[in-house]
This record gives sequence, structure tokens and C-alpha cells, in this order.
Amino acid sequence: MRKGGIPVPALAAMGASIVFALQAFGQSDVEKRVDELLARMTLEEKLGQMSQSTAMRAPISDEIKREIRQGRWGSFLNAGSPADRAEAQRIAVKESRLGIPLIFGRDVIHGYRTIVPIPLGQAASWNPDLIERAAALAAREASAEGIHWTFAPMLDITRDPRWGRVAETLGEDPYLTSVLGAAMIRGFQGASPGAPGSVAACAKHYAGYGAAEAGRDYNSTFIPEGQLRDVYLPPFHAAVEAGVASFMTAFNALNGVPASGNEFLTRRILRVEWKYDGLVVSDYESVLEMVKHGYAADPADAAAKAVRAGVDMEMVSATYFDELKRLVEQGRVPLPVIDDAVRNVLRLKFRLGLFEAPMRSATETEITAAARDLAREAAAESVVLLKNDGVLPLGGGVRRIAVIGPLADSPVDQMGSWVMDARPEEVETPLASLRKRMGADGVRYAAALRNSRDASRENFGDAVAAARASDVVLLFLGEEQILSGEARSRAFLNLPGAQENLAEEVAKAGKPVVTVILAGRPLTFQSVTEESSAVLYAWHPGTMGGPALAEILFGERSPSGKLPIAFPRTVGQIPIYYAHLNTGRPAPPGELGIPMGNPVDPQGYTSKYLDVELTPEYPFGFGLSYARFEYSNLRVSSPAFARGGSIVVSAEIANAGSREGFEAAQLYIRDRVASVARPVRELKGFQRVHLKPGEKRTVSFTLSERDLAFHNQAMQRVAEPGDFDVWIAPDSASGVHGEFTFTE
Ligand code: NOJ
Repeated sequence: MRKGGIPVPALAAMGASIVFALQAFGQSDVEKRVDELLARMTLEEKLGQMSQSTAMRAPISDEIKREIRQGRWGSFLNAGSPADRAEAQRIAVKESRLGIPLIFGRDVIHGYRTIVPIPLGQAASWNPDLIERAAALAAREASAEGIHWTFAPMLDITRDPRWGRVAETLGEDPYLTSVLGAAMIRGFQGASPGAPGSVAACAKHYAGYGAAEAGRDYNSTFIPEGQLRDVYLPPFHAAVEAGVASFMTAFNALNGVPASGNEFLTRRILRVEWKYDGLVVSDYESVLEMVKHGYAADPADAAAKAVRAGVDMEMVSATYFDELKRLVEQGRVPLPVIDDAVRNVLRLKFRLGLFEAPMRSATETEITAAARDLAREAAAESVVLLKNDGVLPLGGGVRRIAVIGPLADSPVDQMGSWVMDARPEEVETPLASLRKRMGADGVRYAAALRNSRDASRENFGDAVAAARASDVVLLFLGEEQILSGEARSRAFLNLPGAQENLAEEVAKAGKPVVTVILAGRPLTFQSVTEESSAVLYAWHPGTMGGPALAEILFGERSPSGKLPIAFPRTVGQIPIYYAHLNTGRPAPPGELGIPMGNPVDPQGYTSKYLDVELTPEYPFGFGLSYARFEYSNLRVSSPAFARGGSIVVSAEIANAGSREGFEAAQLYIRDRVASVARPVRELKGFQRVHLKPGEKRTVSFTLSERDLAFHNQAMQRVAEPGDFDVWIAPDSASGVHGEFTFTE
């Protein structure tokens, strides 16, 4: 990070308040200060604090400056340069009546200047420590430029890869998302959101956004309460337990009630059940959008519904500021409801230490060597090896490689969505890394397609010639940045454009093909897999995707990523996820095709497809390694345990291969009979172990009542006595099995 940074005269002007220095003050001090300040505020000033704007452009307009002086805004998002933010803060603190500092929010989703893999890729690492360090790096870079608050982590569970925002999720599983989401929060917030180098985190999108019908962004979701509480809410509850500073409500209507006006979600569950006292912000115009949802008659009705539901701050639309004064004066919204919302806003500002140090820093960050190392580690650990016939790692005999495909040298696409503050020129692509390694003469490059959607085959000739002239082909396919992220839903999950044709033509050259897929979501690419000797899934790996992939290709590091979401064989299987119920007619493995028999003697009436296997192409938790892991000897510490007790489940893992590697061992259970049917498997733990060739280790997990609990028909969270299956497994479809009994 450059010392000194850009000159910010505004900071000097705020010296007086900074001199106060950050004193440690306790919770009751904060409440006292919040109440004192609240007592001095006019209703308009209160509504200003409840309003967040995106309108602060560089340079700041006179109108915005005037509004800041008037206390019109409590926060700005994704706005201005570090110097603009410092100047806006100076005006707020020095020139507004009460001197309440602004809070600057920004979408720092998977890195700031240094980009790490998209969250879905990070989740494939199954490495909370790494994820925490990556979030801490992003927080340091962002806070150095005057950002106080990030809109991350996204904790939406999704089982639908059509949804473009699957890229921003941590996958399909509530347990994995809870653990990794909490790690991200710890990374962003450090010792506290106000500590130097930290930012406030935001658990979003509350709730149910990832279940959008048909995978179409912003679409409605219908989730029964039991499933909501067992699958969609646990990561948010874990966020509360991790001390997350804020929540963001979702765009979707949940069971017909928009999440930004949903008293059940934000009042009953969040505030009453979970006792949350942080800030709740809406999503971008999601308050006003309740009119289009058909849930609010007009902007005034939307404002009333949102504030009553417990949304403290309105993002971008202005219904709070424009409408609530009148509604309060008319007695339609009680003043205490407004005061509560303002308390939540001010509390966060005090917790962030903004009154003492309104602008801790406004220097321009630079990407450091340590940041690059961390980005490389994160990119490498996110890579999932899906197939390997032995061609990988590439051996010393490989002298000439063909690097082919539209994603071999595309810095922007390699970064993925949400990278406002990164610079493409700082990205190292696979082509650049491979050239460094092999020398320019060792690499023949042919993009063959202009981008991932290009349907023209006119440049295939170069690619085939490059393949013929090489020992091995490295084919970089996938999805470019703009096909992934918000409002980027797809109805087809194949490799877009002419990429499949390219793979087919290149394979005809007769050289081994290693396909590397860079994408924001699970794709379907069976024909390419068949034509390839090996397939690596690299997601959108970020700034250091190139060197990370080169390390893996050449065997300096074994791939260790495991899928955080199932990969379907075809779009028609969606939603497909491992923790499904059994149904009353589970199909035997491999049952496929038109059943024999007739209506008198029916056969084949099982829950399956006629035209595609029931199972996914790759199950949740799956990922190969250059090492070869063997699981054996599952043991339970006793055949049964009772309430208040626990049980230890262990298994041996041996590395029977000739290379070292990390393995994410997974613990699954099944509750065989319950008052509400339970999934065929549920993840309850995981551990990463490192094994040298020939090494064997025992992994152990402790299970207690809490791990067996679910919501019964009365919506009580209970663990019911009975028999359970347990597996320690390399993925959700295999493993070593045991059983135990849980008793009263
Ligand atoms: C809309 C997105 O849904 C949300 O995730 C994001 O944080 C806000 N826009 C702010 O950019």
C-alpha cells in the first residue's frame, strides 16, 4: 500500500474530531450516545439518516453538497473517489447541524483492488481460514480508500445454476454456507467493524432470494416455513452469531410478501427471535418496487410497509424521505417506529467509530506482493479437478503447448462480476503465466473465438494448427463476465457460442486435451469432457488465476477444490441437490428408459426421468486430486447417545497415490424416521487434511443434539429420538457408513 496516498485536505480539516482518538466504549455508552443524539434530531434529520443515495458522482455536485449540509443523507453507496468521500465526510461532520458522519457502503464482494475467486469458487476451497484471510485483505484495501461498509457476504442458498447470482453464493448447502459466511464476516470485520483495516459486513439477501422460480433473477420464491428455517435461514442466523453489523433485505417476494416489507422475516425472526440490533438496509429500490410487486398501493404505502417491517435504511429510492414525514404527522406511522430505525443507523455509526474518526483513511491502495500471493492461493484452492486420465500433472516431457480458447487471455472475464475497483492490467492470465513458464517459443496461442458467445468458426484453423504442432492442448473455455451475476440468468447451461465445436475440432488433432473451464456457474459440457483427457473447473478465479492454474497444471500443487453445488447433467434436472427427500418411490440406481410392463402390470413407476440419469453429472462435495484418497474404518464412539450428550464419529483416510494433497473430508447424517421427513443426507461437518503419499490419518467429528435438530410441524427446533445413518465421505454420493441411535 502506498504510504501517504493522495493529498486529502479534507482530512486535515477534520483533525479536531480525530484527536479524540478511538476510545473503547461499551454497549451502554453507545446506547446513551445514540439516545442523546436522537433527542436532538428533527424528523427530517431522522429521515435523512434513514436514506442512502447512489448519486454522489465525481466531482461531487453542489446539490449533493447542499443536501449533505442539510442532513438529507445517512449514507452513500458505490460513490465517489477516496478524495470525494473525504470531502463529503468533511461537509457532513463540519457543516451539517448535528455533524453526523456519513457511512460509505460499497459492493466489495470478492476483493477490492486484488480480486480473489468469485464466492462460489471460494466455497469450493472448503477452507474457512483462507476465506477469512481473503475477506480481511479486501477490507484492508477498501477501508484504506474510505469505505466503511461492504454489502457482503451473500448468504442465499441456491439450488439453481440458471440464476446468474449463483456466482455470488457459497453454494447449495446451509451448513457449508453458514461456516464459510461466518468466516467472511470475521475477515471483513476483524476485531470489530470499527477496527483499523476493517469494514462492516452485510448479510444479504434476507431472505429466500436464491430460490427464485425458474432461476430468473428477482423472481418470486415460495418456501414452506420448515424449509425456510432449516435450509434458507441458518446461514443468516450464523451471521448474527458471528456479529454481522448489518443485513440487507432481498428483492423477491417470499410466499407473496416482498422481503423488504416482510414483518415475519425482519421483525419476528430477525429482531425478536434472534435479538438482532444491527442495521437493516433495503436492496436497491426494493422498497419502491413493492408497488410493482402489487403489495403496496403507492410510494407512501411502500414506505409505511417497509419501515413497519423493520427496514431501517432505504437504498436509492426515496419513499422514506418523501413520504414518512406526512405519514408520521397523520399518525399512520408511529414516531417510535422511526426512532427505532434511526437508533439502528446511529448505533452502527457509533460502533464504527465514525464520530471519533469519520475518515480513518483516504489513500489510494496499491496491489502488494502479499496480496498477490493470497489471491494466487485462493485461486488455486478453488480449482476443482473433475476428470483426469493421467495426463495431469503435465510432465517434463511436455515442451510445446497449445493454448487455445476465448478465456485463456481475458483479464476482465477472469475476474468475474463485481470488480468495480480492480484493474484488468493487474490481472495475470493463464496465457501470460504459461508463456513465462515455457518461454514464448514453447506456447502456441489461438483464441479461436472472440469471446465465449462467438458463434463463428472462421478462426478454428489456427487453433487446429496450434494443436497439431504441440505436445498437449490446454483449452480455456467457459463463460465471460457479462454472462454471470445480477440479472444474468440463463435458460441453457451449455458452453455458449461455438465452444463445443471448437473442442471437437481441436480434439481431432489427436493430442491430449486438458480443458479448463472458467465460469460463474455450473455448466453442462459432457461432450467436451468426453473429448478431454482432463477437466479443471476454475470458476472466475480473479487477479492471479493464471499463475494458480499453471501451478496446478504442472503439478507444483495438487487440486483440492470440492464442488459447493451439484452440477446437473442437463438443465431439465434443476433443482438438483444432494439433501433431497427420498420420496415414496425412490428409483433404484441407474434406472432409466421407458419402462416395460403395462397398466395392468405396472413397472417403472419410480421417481426418475425417462431420458436422463437421476444423479447429477458431479455431486455436491466432489473433486479429484493428484493424490488418491481411500476412506475406511468408520467408527462411532458408542452405539447411542442421549440429550445433552455427544458421540464421536471417526474414519481413516489414506493417501494411496504417489503425490501429496489436501482432502476435504465430509461428515453426513440421515435421520431415518422423523415427524417431518428428513433429507437422504445432510452435511454436518468437514475437515481438510493434508496427506503425503503413503500417509494415513484418522479424522474425527463430534455430533451432539444440536446437529440432529430440525423444525417439526409446530416449528419447534427439535432433535427426535431414533436411528441415524452417518457417513464420512469424499463427496455427498459416497463414503464409509455407520449408524447410531439418539435417545431421550
Ligand atoms: C443490488 C444487489 O442486489 C445487491 O446485492 C447490491 O449490494 C446492491 N445492488 C448495491 O449495489
